Amino acid sequence: PVPVITVDGPSGVGKGLVTRWLSQRLGGWHRLDSGALYRILALAAQRAGVPDSDGPAVAALVPGLRIEFTGDTEQDEAILVDGENWADTVRAETSGALASRIAALPEVRAALLQLQKDFRRAPGLIADGRDMGTVVFPDAPLKIFMDASPDERAARRYKQLSDKGIPATLDSLCEEIRARDARDRNRPIAPLKPAEGAEVVDTTGLSPAEVLGKVETLLRR
Ligand code: CDP
Repeated sequence: PVPVITVDGPSGVGKGLVTRWLSQRLGGWHRLDSGALYRILALAAQRAGVPDSDGPAVAALVPGLRIEFTGDTEQDEAILVDGENWADTVRAETSGALASRIAALPEVRAALLQLQKDFRRAPGLIADGRDMGTVVFPDAPLKIFMDASPDERAARRYKQLSDKGIPATLDSLCEEIRARDARDRNRPIAPLKPAEGAEVVDTTGLSPAEVLGKVETLLRR
């Protein structure tokens, strides 16, 4: 089978950095940003006027979505939905919160399952999200679970947003991250937790270079 590396963890932990680096380091493995799929679906539901508590109705939107990801860096990223670039809206903090609501609906998770598995193409796939190692690719030969304290994740997200000129406050980000953690870790379906056999990387207090150093060590095992 085509090899997969899963990178799971809570919001703001740096999965994006690790995923992009791994893809390059391995000579162009494909990437699956599963969180973006949940974000897109949540936005599509909002547009269609479908309530975010109606699992069957939200799930029914999945077959009609034509999604294409382009660009290798955060800066040149485009997320095309039916040919329209939704990147800015998809990346907004509010979309993360919307996504975590529909992500608790079993019908939604079931509807996105095959779509996610279809990203598995040669030479390999780096998949990031919450349940890549536990549910979607349980046979992945390398599973990474990243974690860091909520305060540190909020501080990183704050810096990321201010670098992009997006207004935010540290307090509201902290609160948002804690609320999202609670929802993602405590939901009955696919709760956020390390997969069996996952390598746990705690990045609290580590620089990006130090995080990548740890990941490099895991690759060499
Ligand atoms: O970038 P960030 O970590 O803040 O969020 P994300 O990865 O884009 O995910 C947004 C939300 O989608 C999460 O808070 C989860 O509730 C949900 N999600 C999920 O349930 N399963 C996944 N595999 C990916 C995301």
